[in-house]
Amino acid sequence: SLELNPVLLPLDWLLGTWESDEPGEGCFPTIKPFRYIETLNFSHVGQPVINFNFSAFHAETKKPLHRECGFIRMQPGTNRVAFIIAQNSGLVEIEEGELTGQRLDLQSRALARTSFAREPHVQQICRVFQLRGDGKLEQTVSMATDNQALMEHLHVTYRRSS
Ligand code: HEM
Repeated sequence: SLELNPVLLPLDWLLGTWESDEPGEGCFPTIKPFRYIETLNFSHVGQPVINFNFSAFHAETKKPLHRECGFIRMQPGTNRVAFIIAQNSGLVEIEEGELTGQRLDLQSRALARTSFAREPHVQQICRVFQLRGDGKLEQTVSMATDNQALMEHLHVTYRRSS
């Protein structure tokens, strides 16, 4: 198979497909807590870029809910990582942060949305990906909106499926 661009070697642990292990948990002060399942795919075509697709579904009804796709880049020779993301809700974002071992700490740097995006609007996003010692991947997303300070929205653990 195609060789991974050496710039991305520090992120090789992300590559492949991941399935939520137990349903993810969604919460926020203004919404009803919910459970979801999610598939993540991280791939590459030899460029210094990882391509990704996330698809989330309602845990009980399996109805499609949230989707994100985008690209991951690293600043060569540093531990700086950027996620370039499009969401099906009409939001686009740049998140940047640092890779420490097998943990990524990301903060939104730019957010933009369609003129008719539903309110409240997201004002800030913080995201952590961590590969745990037991081989599971964990993602936590916090957000701030027009009317809520930064607070957890999502927490989910995945197992590798390929
Ligand atoms: C609600 C943003 C990912 C499911 C919301 C709200 C916002 C939001 C702004 C409305 C909060 C309010 O009314 O005060 C985001 C962002 C995400 C994200 C920025 C990614 C970075 C997800 C994912 C799921 C999800 C992966 C998985 C299914 C929901 C549900 C609600 C909700 C079920 C409540 C009902 C609704 O408003 O549609 N989200 N979300 N979200 N989100 Fe997310």
